Amino acid sequence: MTFVKTFTTFAAAASVAALTFAAPAFAKNFKIAVGDSGGSSQEATGLAFVSALEELSGGKHTATLFLNGQLGSEQDTVNDAAIGTLDMSLLAVNNITPFSPSVGVFTLPYVILSLEDAETLTQGEIGAELTENTINDAGVRIIAWTYTGFRRLTNSKKPVTSVADLEGLVIRVPKNEIMIDTYKSWGISPTPMAWSETFAGLQTKVVDGQDNPYTTINAMKFYEVQKYVTNIRYIFSIEPLIISEQLFQELSEEDQNIVLEAGKQATAASAQFLRDKEAEIKQILLDKGMEIMDPENNEQEFIDLATAAVWPKFYDSIGGIEKMNEVLAAIGRDPVSE
Ligand code: MLT
Repeated sequence: MTFVKTFTTFAAAASVAALTFAAPAFAKNFKIAVGDSGGSSQEATGLAFVSALEELSGGKHTATLFLNGQLGSEQDTVNDAAIGTLDMSLLAVNNITPFSPSVGVFTLPYVILSLEDAETLTQGEIGAELTENTINDAGVRIIAWTYTGFRRLTNSKKPVTSVADLEGLVIRVPKNEIMIDTYKSWGISPTPMAWSETFAGLQTKVVDGQDNPYTTINAMKFYEVQKYVTNIRYIFSIEPLIISEQLFQELSEEDQNIVLEAGKQATAASAQFLRDKEAEIKQILLDKGMEIMDPENNEQEFIDLATAAVWPKFYDSIGGIEKMNEVLAAIGRDPVSE
């Protein structure tokens, strides 16, 4: 009798323990590295993701943003997420390209000509294919897209309105071959530098200038160390939120779906942030004393040199000229030929 009772109690306890073990209250606080500071488009995407994640998971999951490169340079965070020592990162797509070359198509100069082009490409078949490629090549999964706007050249030395004006300027670029070659097509050899070192580089005048969208220039307070802005608009900056694929595979299917849906909502919020804020932020830069100018001839000189020299050089790395033409067709542009 005693044995039976003890056994029954033990069995009941064991079955509760088994249930508890089988369905753990797996609550996660995802750690998100963010390359930019508060007020940036990256932060807006990150905050929208956190609130969607909390809401969709009924408060079970949350996430914390570590702004301003606190968790390392953007390129380092890709490696960290790939090996599972970091959960997520929000970073410019040009800093993923070295690990997954096909996403370089979004960095090719003058391919994306509007926010709508960026939305079409990232949210359609091309975006899905590139997401798959980054999983296979880099061990990270893109779960949201930030639309930061056109990159604009800033410098501390002189007004620039033509390709010839670039002469004598030392321009920082990310460690990205496409961007390096673009400046070379304009006749100067730029200085590759990690994003996390860029403010100090500009402040100490190791470099004279850099390029990034208005929202980034403002969030990073570049107006303190840069005077002139030129609207070269050669790249529409896209900044994905990535998750470690190793971590993603450890989540239950339900949690994976929550994370993906929160990412979708963050993507939509990012487009809205840009539509609502870009003009206001441009005005802040003017109020801070920056001089903003357009290049002569509608940028044609910049466009002609960059597309002729850079596009063909990178067809192979983005998946061939056929892939380039798929991308151009998706946004209603004419195909290119060899
Ligand atoms: C870069 O210039 O390296 C990036 O565009 C910076 C960013 O993440 O905003």
